[in-house]
Amino acid sequence: MALQFEHTDRFLKETRLYEPDDSTVSRANITAYMRSKGFSTWDELYRWSVANPEEFWSEMARELEWMKPWKTVRRWEPPYVQWFVGAQCNIVHNALDRHMRTPVRNKVAFYWEGEDGARRTLSYADLYQEVNRAASALSKLGITKGDRVIIYLPRIPEQIISMLAVARLGAVHSVVYSAFSAPALRDRINDAQAKAVIACDGYYYQGKLVERKSVVDEALRDNDTVEHVIVVRRTGTDIPWQAGRDVDWAELVASGADRHPVEPVDSEHPLFILYTSGTTGKPKGVVHTHGGYMVGVYTTARFVFDVQPDDIFWCTADPGWVTGHSYIVYGPLINGVTSVFYEGAPTYPDPGRFWSIVQRYGVTIFYTAPTAIRGLMRHGDQWPAQYDLSSLRLLGSVGEPINPEAWVWYREKIGRGQVPIMDTWWQTETGSILITPTPITPLKPGSATRPFLGIEADVVDRSGQPVDANRGGYLVIKQPWPSMMRTIFNDPKRYEVYWNTIPGMYFAGDAAHKDEDGYFWIQGRVDDVISVSGYRLGSMEIESALVGHPAVAEAAVIGKPHPVKGESIKAFVILRKGYDAGEALVSELKQFIRQNIGPIAVPDDIQVVDSLPKTRSGKIMRRLLKAQELGLPIGDVSTLEE
Ligand code: WT7
Repeated sequence: MALQFEHTDRFLKETRLYEPDDSTVSRANITAYMRSKGFSTWDELYRWSVANPEEFWSEMARELEWMKPWKTVRRWEPPYVQWFVGAQCNIVHNALDRHMRTPVRNKVAFYWEGEDGARRTLSYADLYQEVNRAASALSKLGITKGDRVIIYLPRIPEQIISMLAVARLGAVHSVVYSAFSAPALRDRINDAQAKAVIACDGYYYQGKLVERKSVVDEALRDNDTVEHVIVVRRTGTDIPWQAGRDVDWAELVASGADRHPVEPVDSEHPLFILYTSGTTGKPKGVVHTHGGYMVGVYTTARFVFDVQPDDIFWCTADPGWVTGHSYIVYGPLINGVTSVFYEGAPTYPDPGRFWSIVQRYGVTIFYTAPTAIRGLMRHGDQWPAQYDLSSLRLLGSVGEPINPEAWVWYREKIGRGQVPIMDTWWQTETGSILITPTPITPLKPGSATRPFLGIEADVVDRSGQPVDANRGGYLVIKQPWPSMMRTIFNDPKRYEVYWNTIPGMYFAGDAAHKDEDGYFWIQGRVDDVISVSGYRLGSMEIESALVGHPAVAEAAVIGKPHPVKGESIKAFVILRKGYDAGEALVSELKQFIRQNIGPIAVPDDIQVVDSLPKTRSGKIMRRLLKAQELGLPIGDVSTLEE
């Protein structure tokens, strides 16, 4: 990754500080832990944890169950790391089996609510039963340890059940976001060399039926690794069926045994592959493993979200993204907490939907994205005002920087002016939260505050030297942590880039600055990755889809600041001879992107141009297009060809 980012210093200074109240501090899990270690301040605890990361993380790991203990806590052979080396475990044992011997067994694991109002409650025992049956049935279909299974499902209980069933077998799940189109699905199935796909007939979103089965069929044309497509009937509509290959989920699971033993796997055995955008067209298959990931999500859910036995936790993300993996599925379940799981859109049938769900289930901890907060804020204060939100005691934010205005609205209108907000910075690659407050941290609106326990973060220049307070630079992590990705599937070179761009440190791709109190302020990504509604999209992936259209000769895609989505997409295209730059073509191109990637990647604006700025080596200078578009200084143009 080329570091072309120009330092941006801080212009706007946020001076508001929100101290935690005494009752929050006294009941927090982190306070109890701090006392048990004999420390009286966060700073002391933090300093101890980064000076003794192996001690800290192994202490956390010992709270979970392992089938065989580790011999070595950490083996660090840069840039490759192993944690809890020699141990055997299975994350599903800690998420489910372990609870069957405790009162958690009879607690609700998930209150599921469909967009259409359908409801389903699953206790831990129910979920355990479903996962056992599904695992047994999948194993009869030939799925075993190490096999890759694509899960292409919307937010319905079967999405979670199938993730846990696959992991129970020691097989590897790769969840693909349900709104992705056939080509995006196909690329992921092919890259993972998947043996099976778990999908559905369709689902409801914003009141509309979204058909899925024919998308799967199209993605599988010419595929020779997938043996079975397992179809969940969510809508009951008529769908194409390929006898022999296609299997009905309900029938399959009914054929499963009541119990199917959990497969003990090596701590470093892969748990999942999750595709994320990088700077080239091809998505990166980020690989996470059982042992370290399990410890990372358990610890952060416990200390950041402060989950306690009587909490009702709601993370509004989709398990198609990492937030859902870590804080809908694994983190809450390992902690034995009750969660809400909602299928639909935040504004369906009206902008009060989220708040009606908070009220109905008495949600105590609510975790969402800045884009959702800004979107709901726009609809006005009357929506949250109609509901009783007094159950809320902790709020969270993730996906992009939260602007102070939205932060303050979130605290005032959702959090009654008193609920602390955990602005959590992390990535698909980091597996769990790395920079974040805990309930005892004094908060500054717009800052993710400070590194979590055991995490050594800094802001540095190109050579890895720390920059002064309030100076812009690159956000780096200086020590490996348990839940970090282990590699990029089938592409270790792309993994190594994370550790050799700034030698010896993990470079996340984000720009940031640190203030005089050591608080981190994340500024966004330095590379050609666009963050739309908190979802990372590669410029190159959208560009390569655009040039797949017969009318397009060349394309360049940039992100522009957007009041609700964080960033919106603007595309510049050069047309082939013989095509007219009219409205009709522009809407055809938008439709084309919708089909090839999905609705999230559709540009708000497509502009037809005669030329694009390029370097002598032929690389499109998106930075220039962006500067021009936003009226910013053009900066260094020494590499510009014309
Ligand atoms: C990128 C990672 C981690 C789950 C969601 C996205 C941005 C994430 C924050 C935050 C500022 C944030 C970063 C990061 N980001 N959280 N609290 N403040 N920026 O996962 O798709 O892997 O994207 O999201 O730019 O690098 P992802």
